[in-house]
Amino acid sequence: MQLALSTWQEVEDYLARARGIIVPIGSVEQHGPNGLIGTDHLCAEVVAKGVGDAIGAMVAPTLAYGMSQHHLGFAGSATLRPSTLMLVVRDVVESLATHGFERFFFINGHGGNVASVTAAFDELYASRSLGVATGKVKCRMTFWSAGKRGQVLADQLYPGVNGNHATASEVALAQYYQQGAIKHAQMTPKVAPTAPQFFEAADYRARFPDGRIGSDPSLSTPEHGKLLYDAAVADMVDAYQTFLAY
Ligand code: NI
Repeated sequence: MQLALSTWQEVEDYLARARGIIVPIGSVEQHGPNGLIGTDHLCAEVVAKGVGDAIGAMVAPTLAYGMSQHHLGFAGSATLRPSTLMLVVRDVVESLATHGFERFFFINGHGGNVASVTAAFDELYASRSLGVATGKVKCRMTFWSAGKRGQVLADQLYPGVNGNHATASEVALAQYYQQGAIKHAQMTPKVAPTAPQFFEAADYRARFPDGRIGSDPSLSTPEHGKLLYDAAVADMVDAYQTFLAY
């Protein structure tokens, strides 16, 4: 079920039998020479919708923008400040909680979101611990790619070259989801450089000139994307059901 495609009466009916909701979250940022700007939110969205279809779970509209300050050296990238993202997450969760949603399962496509989103979760819990708020909201966030099936498959498909940004697996999954927007580009070098840390946008661009980190997404295909989709949906169904029972 998709919240955006439901009526308010259908949401009420859902809440009479369930309290969980899945929230896809990603980014709007460069993904190298053949990766789409929307890669992170497209990947989170297609997996979230797959989970919703598989088990009848409610899926919220995608939070497309994320914390991407380090990508602003590349055209088309846009960021929320960490403080803005925290407020967006808080307001969305608190809004939906007023109707009775209690379990918020964020399926994430972007590493840059982790610190801010988990800090927003801690703000919610802190308000209860300090006695200034009540409620039963519990939140969890996981990467669409973090499950065992998905990890094993990515290692099989792209041994040692899946990378850390503009990964071969996320480019493939986006190709599967948006087959009309598949891009082809020369990768030079074939496998992108890596570094243990980066800072602001200019620093990032200097270290990673075409935007990739450690990946070779010239290997990506929509057929791989379909395999990765099936693995990720199965992984996230398990993760969501585990969370509901936690
Ligand atoms: Ni990404």
